[in-house]
Amino acid sequence: MSTHTIITLDGPAGVGKSTLAKALARELQLPFLDTGAMFRYVAHALGEDALKLDGPALAARLETLDFDLKGSGDNSILACNGQVPGNEIRTEQVGKLASKFAALPEVRDFLKTAQQRLGNRGPLVAEGRDMGTVVFPQAARKFFLDADPLVRAKRRQLQLLEQGADKRQAANAPAPGSEEELRQIEAQIRERDHQDRNRAIAPLRPAEDAIIVDTSNLSLDQVLAKLLDSARSI
Ligand code: DC
Repeated sequence: MSTHTIITLDGPAGVGKSTLAKALARELQLPFLDTGAMFRYVAHALGEDALKLDGPALAARLETLDFDLKGSGDNSILACNGQVPGNEIRTEQVGKLASKFAALPEVRDFLKTAQQRLGNRGPLVAEGRDMGTVVFPQAARKFFLDADPLVRAKRRQLQLLEQGADKRQAANAPAPGSEEELRQIEAQIRERDHQDRNRAIAPLRPAEDAIIVDTSNLSLDQVLAKLLDSARSI
């Protein structure tokens, strides 16, 4: 593997990208770049009102954000202006808002430049929606993970149960683990898929040379084994 090897992992929400990209980065001892966290950070830091700013005003707000990536594998740390974002950016509300910011050209341009700058410094595993298509078209290996929306909703529900009820937002949310909650999560996933796949700029889609892995009927370990197999042959 060369000193400038970039591996990309793209795919829809809830497909297990973060877990797999992190595990791949750990096994290969490479830095892990979670680009969804960058969009989430922007959404959280700028807030919903910034969606109404005109292009130059939005670009000026973005210019105040300076992203940095340190460490590798599990110890990869993405910081912005010296601060490491915590769980406040992981809520469904911030995810939804991030998806709206992600449709704005100023935001995409700004983050693309920031991501490419991090990639220029050395090898990494980059995870997101447009890593293989737009940000790192020269990547040594490109993976696109996909899974049935209901399977992704079930995984997300399990994750929420493991995290505990305090991570849920609305006071009137359906009972944890219930059918109703599952249907609600599936609807949110389908809505976000629609938003991400149908936006005009950098829509979610596999690069022509991406290896597509359907994870619906595979365990995380099985998917990781496939990715590692392929990445080790670079
Ligand atoms: O992967 P995630 O759920 O943390 O991403 C949050 C949102 O950010 C997602 O709805 C789409 C957007 N995103 C994007 O447009 N491009 C990326 N490379 C990463 C995320």
